[in-house]
Amino acid sequence: MAIERVGIVGSGIMGSGIAEVAAKAGVTVVLRSRKQESADAMVAALGASLAKQVSRGKLDEAEAGVISDRVSATADLDALADSDLVLESVVEDLDVKRQLFGELDRIVKDGAILATNTSTLPVVEMAIETGRPERVCGIHFFNPAPMMSLVEVIRTLVSSDETIAEAHAFAQGAGKTSVEVKDEAGFIVNALLFPYLNNAVRMLENGTASRDDIDAAMKGGCNFPMGPLALLDLVGLDTSLSILDALYEEFKDPNYAAVPRLRRMVAAGLLGRKSGEGFFDYRR
Ligand SMILES: NC(=O)c1ccc[n+]([C@@H]2O[C@H](COP(=O)([O-])OP(=O)(O)OC[C@H]3O[C@@H](n4cnc5c(N)ncnc54)[C@H](O)[C@@H]3O)[C@@H](O)[C@H]2O)c1
Repeated sequence: MAIERVGIVGSGIMGSGIAEVAAKAGVTVVLRSRKQESADAMVAALGASLAKQVSRGKLDEAEAGVISDRVSATADLDALADSDLVLESVVEDLDVKRQLFGELDRIVKDGAILATNTSTLPVVEMAIETGRPERVCGIHFFNPAPMMSLVEVIRTLVSSDETIAEAHAFAQGAGKTSVEVKDEAGFIVNALLFPYLNNAVRMLENGTASRDDIDAAMKGGCNFPMGPLALLDLVGLDTSLSILDALYEEFKDPNYAAVPRLRRMVAAGLLGRKSGEGFFDYRR
């Protein structure tokens, strides 16, 4: 089945970026948030991102107009009924996602793919909330979605070959490199990345080195584009904590046990860029 109409659920860090990627690939996009204002804000963020690309000469103005015209915003889940693919990108919480999959299954036309952008959670647990578990898979974008070239396609034990092939075709049609991975917590990237990020927080907590020196060391010593503490701020410390908790729950590996400082920062509302402060201060 050709994917021509995509619904995106969730207006957080990832939602509008994924919408931009899909709209640039030529599909019609309906963005859904629980509040109309947040849905409208996602469309505005997408418009601002396109305008920046026009001002940098990376996109011409007419093209940017065509791309924005493909995107609309709604607070109504029913508006996703005609989608060929719905990709949810709501909070990293299994109960919330399970409930959403049940609702989407009732609303979205038969045969459509229901996919999750989860970073770590078991996709099959979302699939079994639906009457079409073979049409459920993970399509995991990276942050920021328009810039990052990778998409992980997550195959559950019950995903059909057609579903997986269509998910790869969607990702590749959007100009991404897609890799396939089993439905195991963290998939490829986060299973390898998060012990490193967690250990950077441990090093800071132990006083081994300062925040700035830890980040400078990994940039200069490994040629990483950003240090681990800045990356945690970009991902969001609440999302990072949920990722670590899901990894620890699955593997019981101490490298995945979230360092107390991370948990305390989330409790304090220090969530990184999205709240204005995390390891670094973004308000100034
Ligand atoms: N942040 C990243 O770097 C990143 C990268 C790849 C994938 N992801 C995944 O994408 C998903 C969204 O992450 P994000 O960083 O955009 O999160 P975020 O915290 O920025 O946004 C979460 C969104 O979920 C919505 N939400 C919260 N509770 C809800 C509920 N009960 N019902 C419906 N919606 C609800 C919020 O309104 C918000 O729009 C998560 O599954 C996360 O693991 C995140």
